[in-house]
Amino acid sequence: MAASYENESENRFNGNSFSIPFQEIPRFPKSDKRVNELISCKEPVIVTGSDLVGSASHWSLDYLAENIGDGTFNVYKSASRKFKYYSDKKMQAVHEFAPPTQLLEMRFQEFMKLIRSKTNTNSERIYLQQALNNSVGPNIVHEFVNFNWAWASEQQQGNSWGQLTSNLLLVGMPGNVTPVHYDEQENLFAQIRGSKRFLLFHPDQFENLYPYPVHHPHDRQSQVDLENPDYEQFPNVRNLHGYEGVVGPGDVLYIPMYWWHQVESCPDSEENISVNFWYMAGSVEKIEHPLSAQQKVAMSRNIEKMCLEALGDPSEVAPFMKMLVLGRYT
Ligand code: FUM
Ligand code: FE
Repeated sequence: MAASYENESENRFNGNSFSIPFQEIPRFPKSDKRVNELISCKEPVIVTGSDLVGSASHWSLDYLAENIGDGTFNVYKSASRKFKYYSDKKMQAVHEFAPPTQLLEMRFQEFMKLIRSKTNTNSERIYLQQALNNSVGPNIVHEFVNFNWAWASEQQQGNSWGQLTSNLLLVGMPGNVTPVHYDEQENLFAQIRGSKRFLLFHPDQFENLYPYPVHHPHDRQSQVDLENPDYEQFPNVRNLHGYEGVVGPGDVLYIPMYWWHQVESCPDSEENISVNFWYMAGSVEKIEHPLSAQQKVAMSRNIEKMCLEALGDPSEVAPFMKMLVLGRYT
């Protein structure tokens, strides 16, 4: 049974003439037993006082520029506030796909100069998103080693997650938006500087968020623009309901695998710095029925991939699925 710690008050997110009802994401100190209950039920929670990235609480643009080393960093450039993820590998599958952002590679010093040359009202924005690696300087290594790995491992082992795959460093401008999507990994999202506003949606909102097909470069992203939803094309958007919360310095948000999330950097700081901890899914010991919404999303992805592989052409998948379902399962 899912744990439920709902805040009675409902917020509403106004996207055009439409508003989405939101509950607040539960927020508890790390010693509160509800933290473990929520994480083990695969429900989101904002954890305070975990000290997960306490050793990095002094990180700033200047500090990173001085200490992060001479490695190159992935920096996305966008003509709008939105940084919608796309897969390079899947670009050939879709004719005339126009990437919404451009990937640049640069040293951190160069990134710092560039970010400082931009104002929030400039139309062009940048967002650094780079997995921390062994090119970082000794001070950053020291702070990394002093992350609260004991607490992170407690979550990993206590919930039978798989191995840690990466720590993504995110450095962005106020107002940057990562549009609504889901990931196929468990995420402990740690905020270091500035704050971010999260909108979260349970995996059972699949048909209300209209994900792109699995072969599409925007796989795992919603086709819906939450700030300006087209409900003629996506009528189920009216049924959407979710969770909302702001994470500030020292907070950690657990984003369960397959939960939809949209992230906006708040305008409270010129610099927004976060690090996330991505873990592989744990192995499933025993299948219980009915399947969870998460398991159904995983299953639908596998079915889509299997159809594509067998048919050999993405344009054949939709007619095949229609043939299978229409008039038979409808
Ligand atoms: O912009 C962001 O902080 C996105 C984070 C995520 O998708 O995990
Ligand atoms: Fe994500």
